[in-house]
Amino acid sequence: MTTASIADPLSLNVSLGERSYPIYIGAGLMDQGERLVSHLSGRQVMVVTNETVAAHYLERLTTALARADETLRIETLVLPDGEAYKNIEGVSRIWDALLEAGFNRRSTLVALGGGVIGDMVGYAAASYQRGISFIQVPTTLLSQVDSSVGGKTGVNHPLGKNMIGAFWQPRAVLIDTATLATLPQRELSAGLAEVIKYGFIYDRAFLEWLEQQLDALRRLDDAALATAIERSCAIKAEIVALDETEQGVRALLNLGHTFGHAIEAHMGYGAWLHGEAVGAGMMMAADLSMRLGFIDSEAVDRTRRLIERCGLPVSAPAEMSVEDFVSRMKLDKKNLDDRIRLILLQELGKACVHDQTPSAVLHDCIKEFPRC
Ligand code: NAD
Ligand code: GLY
Repeated sequence: MTTASIADPLSLNVSLGERSYPIYIGAGLMDQGERLVSHLSGRQVMVVTNETVAAHYLERLTTALARADETLRIETLVLPDGEAYKNIEGVSRIWDALLEAGFNRRSTLVALGGGVIGDMVGYAAASYQRGISFIQVPTTLLSQVDSSVGGKTGVNHPLGKNMIGAFWQPRAVLIDTATLATLPQRELSAGLAEVIKYGFIYDRAFLEWLEQQLDALRRLDDAALATAIERSCAIKAEIVALDETEQGVRALLNLGHTFGHAIEAHMGYGAWLHGEAVGAGMMMAADLSMRLGFIDSEAVDRTRRLIERCGLPVSAPAEMSVEDFVSRMKLDKKNLDDRIRLILLQELGKACVHDQTPSAVLHDCIKEFPRC
């Protein structure tokens, strides 16, 4: 695999009929204003970001847009940074800014940032004047391999993670891999959680490749990153095309998330990064899969080694009791008819949806899981 360049970005497609859209991947793509402009629906554009990302990239993006089309009306909105601000008040600030600018139904929102900005901007786009266009320009590894693709948008509620939201697909996803150069190491690790997730649930060959290339990925090796991002996006695009609204196979993308969302909500949004909670959550899912006889202890050890090598936690917060986990897991969006539905490993590279875990087994798994 060669590294995609600005002149020749790699392009994937999310096939959803008339709502299909491209994912462009390459270093320096943010400077390609023409590419972004070609996906706008009118002449009104609002770039929404947070204060951290704004300092690095906002001016660059708006300059590229203005250079590509001087007739555009370009507005910007800078929100506070953090998972703690991923709430309906944040979305309301986007609605306010759109209304104050007098933006109409043919305006386009551009989400410049990580998954928090992408999810909030997507939800604002889904709901403003019953739906306007939006474009994802993800700048964290996590958002480049997962949250920017697939149209899940929304915000947290004090009682549950991502509980308020809508499915609303972007018009395009523009992944400038060079933005990862400014990403803190802890955030890179959080993104790796979602990358290795694809290997665990769907692609054993990719999992084995990740085991070999993890150190290169953590060093930000260009070729390794391009391959990891491309393969992750290709798997996500394939799954979303099969099951846009999570009636079946898309649920597999939630490996570790039922445990992880419980950790994020219980600890207070932002205390554990999403990817960190997913890392520990995948470990808990592997442990439960072994207790149910799906995988053996060698597979669990291999899972632990890879999660640890990403720089992610493999134990749960000391302050969380079994009841803290179970009460939050009962609120998970995947559940049907009061049964907790979990994504478990059938083998490394293959996952399943399971809703028959005896409560005593789940209880023991959580109780005996290591604490940090
Ligand atoms: P984030 O958006 O909070 O970004 C992480 C941190 O990195 C922030 O402080 C941000 O300001 C900073 N940052 C972003 N880009 C940067 C850059 N290039 N250089 C320096 N700093 C940068 O977190 P995230 O991990 O990107 O996303 C997590 C969110 O995504 C969670 O809310 C999670 O629920 C959501 N999510 C959504 C989906 C989906 O399908 N919609 C999937 C997975 C996760
Ligand atoms: N990140 C899970 C999904 O998009 O379905």
